[in-house]
Amino acid sequence: MMKKLAISAAFALAMAPIGAMAAGGGDQHIEDFAFSFEGPFGTFDRNQLQRGLQIYTEVCAACHGLKQVPIRTLSDEGGPQMPEDQIRVYAADNFEVFDPELDDFRPATPVDHFPANDSLGAPDLSLMAKARAGFHGPYGLGLNQMFRGMGGAEYIASILTGYTGEEKEEAGVILYENTAFPGGWLSMGPPLSDEQVEFADGHSNTVHHMAQDVSAFLMWAAEPKLMARKQAGFVGVLFLTFLSVLLYLTNKRIWAPIKGKKTD
Ligand code: HEC
Repeated sequence: MMKKLAISAAFALAMAPIGAMAAGGGDQHIEDFAFSFEGPFGTFDRNQLQRGLQIYTEVCAACHGLKQVPIRTLSDEGGPQMPEDQIRVYAADNFEVFDPELDDFRPATPVDHFPANDSLGAPDLSLMAKARAGFHGPYGLGLNQMFRGMGGAEYIASILTGYTGEEKEEAGVILYENTAFPGGWLSMGPPLSDEQVEFADGHSNTVHHMAQDVSAFLMWAAEPKLMARKQAGFVGVLFLTFLSVLLYLTNKRIWAPIKGKKTD
């Protein structure tokens, strides 16, 4: 039994690097940004989410929708945690939604979702941070994912910082070279430039910092319950550990008289 176990363990370890190699994504380069929400105890950084929301609103929303995200969740605990009156003003100031009852557009309210935006064929960003993976393998162990996440936020931040400056035209469409995009060329021009967005607290607004802020916000949008889920998982692990110790001790005790080892 032990021998069999040892053989399969050795086999699994030997296979791991092969899996990692097979999963390596060609020449696509994803930078490993250090996000606050990574790791078993990571949490979202509220100020960063608020900056990310501002960047999304002022820059990305011109082309990308966020239609699966209810505006009211901006006040949720663990998220950007904006006060409710501020959200009401934010919604009305920035977005219009079509109201079938009025048969017209009206200013958005917190109960609405962020609007969709199909005007330029840009993908909706609601679930983008979960739909894309920046890191792969080694498959089966899940350790990479546990400590670094799936890399969806890294993927987005790497796209935003990955432009080489090269452009080409293909069938009437201008394509921009990008080291993070699969295939190397995409039709979105560099959306961010240094100092494009001004933050109320004077926080750094280089492309490098803003790319991380908006990616953190999109991670929250795609997975708003990330922190609650980690917490529940942690409680589960603690409980199971405790239960295992208890079972081990009980087992020893029950079998002690029969095994007759060092009991008398
Ligand atoms: C001028 C319009 C425009 C703006 C502004 C814009 N995008 Fe895009 N974006 C696009 C288009 C169009 C595509 C599709 C590109 C393609 O597939 O070739 C795209 C693609 C993307 C993708 C690609 C994903 C994929 O893997 O398919 C991401 C991520 C993205 N945008 C994020 C952002 C973020 C974040 C911002 C704000 C900082 C932003 N975009 C601003 C037009 C825009």
